[in-house]
Amino acid sequence: MKKTMQFLLLTIFLITLAACHSTINPRLMSNFDDNWRFHLGDTLNAQTSSFQDGTWRTLDLPHDWSIEGSFDEKSPAGPGGGYLNGGIGWYRKTFTANKAWKGKDVVIDFDGVYRNSEVWINDHYLGMRPNGYISFRYDLTPYLRYDRPNVIAVKVDNSQQPNSRWYSGSGIYRNVRLVITSLSHFAQWGIYVTTPEVNEEKTSMNIQFQTVVQPTQEPVTIRSLLYDANGKLVAKSSRITVKGAVSSNTMEVVGPHLWSITDPYLYTMVSQLYVGNQLEDQLSTNVGIRYFNFDKDKGFSLNGKPIKILGVCDHHDLGCLGSAVNKRAIERQLEILKGMGCNAIRTSHNPPSPELLDLADRMGFIIMDEAFDMWKIPKTKYDYSQYFVKWHKQDLSDQIRRDRNHPSVMIWSVGNEIPEQWDKNDSTSMGVVIMKDLCSIVRKLDTTRPIVTATNNHNPDPAKNPFINCGATDLIGFNYDINGWLSFPKAFPNDKLIITESTSALETRGWYQMPSDSILRVPKGNTPYSTPTHFCSAYDNCATPWGSTHEETWKVVKAHPYISGIFIWTGFDYIGEPTPYEWPSRSSYFGIIDLAGFPKDVYYMYQSEWTNKNVLHIFPYWNWKSGQTVDIWAYYNNADEVELFLNGKSLGKQHKVGDQLHVMWKVPFEPGTLRAVSYKNRKQVMATEEKTAGQATRMVLSADRRKIDADNSDLSYVTVQIVDKDGTLVPDAGNLVYFSITGPGKIIGVDNGSETDHNPFKANYTNAFFGKCLVVIQSTHKPGTICLTATSDELPSSMIDIVTK
Ligand code: GAL
Repeated sequence: MKKTMQFLLLTIFLITLAACHSTINPRLMSNFDDNWRFHLGDTLNAQTSSFQDGTWRTLDLPHDWSIEGSFDEKSPAGPGGGYLNGGIGWYRKTFTANKAWKGKDVVIDFDGVYRNSEVWINDHYLGMRPNGYISFRYDLTPYLRYDRPNVIAVKVDNSQQPNSRWYSGSGIYRNVRLVITSLSHFAQWGIYVTTPEVNEEKTSMNIQFQTVVQPTQEPVTIRSLLYDANGKLVAKSSRITVKGAVSSNTMEVVGPHLWSITDPYLYTMVSQLYVGNQLEDQLSTNVGIRYFNFDKDKGFSLNGKPIKILGVCDHHDLGCLGSAVNKRAIERQLEILKGMGCNAIRTSHNPPSPELLDLADRMGFIIMDEAFDMWKIPKTKYDYSQYFVKWHKQDLSDQIRRDRNHPSVMIWSVGNEIPEQWDKNDSTSMGVVIMKDLCSIVRKLDTTRPIVTATNNHNPDPAKNPFINCGATDLIGFNYDINGWLSFPKAFPNDKLIITESTSALETRGWYQMPSDSILRVPKGNTPYSTPTHFCSAYDNCATPWGSTHEETWKVVKAHPYISGIFIWTGFDYIGEPTPYEWPSRSSYFGIIDLAGFPKDVYYMYQSEWTNKNVLHIFPYWNWKSGQTVDIWAYYNNADEVELFLNGKSLGKQHKVGDQLHVMWKVPFEPGTLRAVSYKNRKQVMATEEKTAGQATRMVLSADRRKIDADNSDLSYVTVQIVDKDGTLVPDAGNLVYFSITGPGKIIGVDNGSETDHNPFKANYTNAFFGKCLVVIQSTHKPGTICLTATSDELPSSMIDIVTK
């Protein structure tokens, strides 16, 4: 009894103690995405607070209006923009300021608006930002009113076209939030954590603070607390007094748990700002402790272990969702990339969404964070070059300050294939002058990561190519040019090489051109490539002349340790740049994964090389003309050989010789079953089959997630497969499929991975493409069961349930 009493008292004491110490964060971050009014087109006086917007559409951000349009052969955005239109759009939001905000600092944060945004509050002009990929903030404090509603108006002008070589999207396509703080607070991106000394025993940490502090009699002090992933306090800085706008502090972490791509361990640093004894601001920062190195001979290492950077370049669109940011959509892309063994992403060719970096920190990716696709010389008529001189310093600084705490970010890129690289051959060259300027902007803000620029002028002679030979960058970034990679150690004996971009192979999922061992380079010179269907062969035997096939590329990277890593063009297909075709093609053929997120065959080549999991993948499908000879490829690993059987009869064993990455059989077609078996030491490792499909008889629906959050944002991706009576995918099925939904969810996109399909992305129907299509379901705020039904002429309808909680 006595013991119980003691325990009870102790518990009460502990709870009280905790309550005294638990601090209510005076900083308030409020999601500001819901309930905006939108109007497509310019309109007079829409910036004024008295403007009547009652007839405008109501929507939630993030929003991309271009993706809602239809493909338009005459679109000024052209093939680069995927033939989807830009234009001008207006957004307005009416809101009531909370009385509790009085006497506080209230700002609005935009993660990204494409592009030329102008913002007003209550008739007051806040400013404009031309760059469509940059995050920015405006101070609302002086203009807020508490006696009647406030109106924020945003004009987005993406009417000057073309302004991009790929699909950009249009509108407030990233998140918006309000941040409310005490008048004394940490500045925007005002905390910067570095780890000058990392080893297994201890890590020293530097923390730099930028603060905005009101004049006061009382001392303003700051301290930081470091919590491990279980929430346990593991380190503390001393409390320091703020003297100027910037202060710094240190702490030490004993026995740090290092961040790596296989174990992306994150600490949380809580930084607190006190005026006297009063907590006035508190900010959390994710901290990953790691060290890395680029060596000119041995390549890249992370925490002392050599690894290759196995990366892809990706644009920011999310397929049928357009560029409208959705965290789950990005996470799904990263999961698919992880599945093939990819460990790095180049954010080509612009600052990414903050969500991508958060996910990369959590999931273990290395990021090459890129700033620009052009400087002063344009690549398209109305691109950012017209703003570069005035805005580059601010844009680049903002990018570095925003992103420099992410452990995933390990390389800064200040440009991609910048036309100034070909400028005059001396040190007054515009390219060299600008590059030095950009590098010094970066280095003033962060010296812990190497800088690179992605080049295709690889001449090692400083007199002829001062751009990469002037020593401004830390790494040499080559785009394409395999011969240049091979001669690199001789040509650039003191430099470190990274392949900033490679490959540009071309593939349509599900379409195969034989002979598979003859390689097609398209387009050739000025002769456009043209096939009636606008497809490219998925045998990895089709590439651009400046690029190479996946196998040609990987063999070289794999064989040479001094090549620190590679960023393949591209991980996912993207909207726009439908090289080697133009209209009616409207999205790229470069992806290892198609626009809908369905892997192309070559995905499994990477999986067999870049992961340890057992892989055996044979292709193509097994529906051909009788007697036709078909090239059957197999990607495999963890085995000595693969045997192929047709209808039970062995067609012989094959194994990879030398640097071969696949094996092949030429097989005369007869209907039935192709079966492949891989063996190690004569024991079976894996087996897989391709069967001749009969007539389409039904649809099989499968969801990547059957349980999602009822948060008005989470997604379930449902794949439809058209199959025969035995469940074999019908490889040429193109059935038109309609979707309907009941319950608390909505259809927010459909796709099939075709590069030429002109069905809208925002619809409740699409055609299957080589047997498959996709529908994306989003939750609402309501929990419940969503029921999706797919119907199609001549096939029975099919259903699937998704629960939202
Ligand atoms: C590169 C360029 C990329 C993309 C690619 C297509 O030269 O950097 O943005 O256009 O070509 O092959």
